[in-house]
Amino acid sequence: MIASPATASPRRCLVRPLLARIDLNAAVFRLDFEWPGQAPGAGQFFMIKVQRGALFLPRPVSVYRWDGASRRLSFLVLKKGRGTAELGQLEAGEAAALTGPLGNRWGDFFPPEFRGGTAGGVKAALVGGGIGIAPLSALGDELGGGFDLYAGFRSGSFGLESLREKADALVIASEDGTEGCRGRIPDFADYRGRPLVCACGPLPMLRAVAEKCRAAGVPCYVSMENLMACGVGACLGCTVQTTGGNRRVCADGPIFPAEALF
Ligand code: FES
Repeated sequence: MIASPATASPRRCLVRPLLARIDLNAAVFRLDFEWPGQAPGAGQFFMIKVQRGALFLPRPVSVYRWDGASRRLSFLVLKKGRGTAELGQLEAGEAAALTGPLGNRWGDFFPPEFRGGTAGGVKAALVGGGIGIAPLSALGDELGGGFDLYAGFRSGSFGLESLREKADALVIASEDGTEGCRGRIPDFADYRGRPLVCACGPLPMLRAVAEKCRAAGVPCYVSMENLMACGVGACLGCTVQTTGGNRRVCADGPIFPAEALF
């Protein structure tokens, strides 16, 4: 059976001026907005559209950081198409339409005995690949510590500022060996005995993590990326096949038990 979102957040669509764009490398940038609406939970996402943009459809982007005190909402974006390239040209003060928060949360799946990042004194593992580190950063902030982090990149690293502080143990891998261990991160993670594993990244990485968790008998939850048009469950454009039938990544996810998908 697939757990459905435990909480439906009151979503809003608001036009907000960009507070800041910070380029982290040639392909990855951070966007910060002030968000007066519902506080997002870790794992949720927003649909973002540049007001002056040429593209009709907004782009789904996971929450990277949320500071409730200042109401600063941050996103990490990888340039990989026209929509994200448009987001990458936003300048401070320019307007974007933000719709959210959308989707379910990591916390919807956690057992009652899970506190901080541990259950019964045993730490959870967070496994992120590339831009998939974004929703895990939000989760790390929400947990506040008590977890181990495994982060994989093609080259170098990015998006680890808060996670470096909060993770009890941090293992980084890069495919070209420019940072951390050389190789793919699923091969370096220790899954045995974990109360749970949360993963986000490219599909082959998620599949590998899911297989290793299954072999270790550890519950695994994955955050899925998919092409989206409406972002609110209406168009069925983001449907994935699960063991429980077709599900919409935007409205039934983006977080699913790995066993339902792989
Ligand atoms: S994007 Fe329309 S149903 Fe998910």
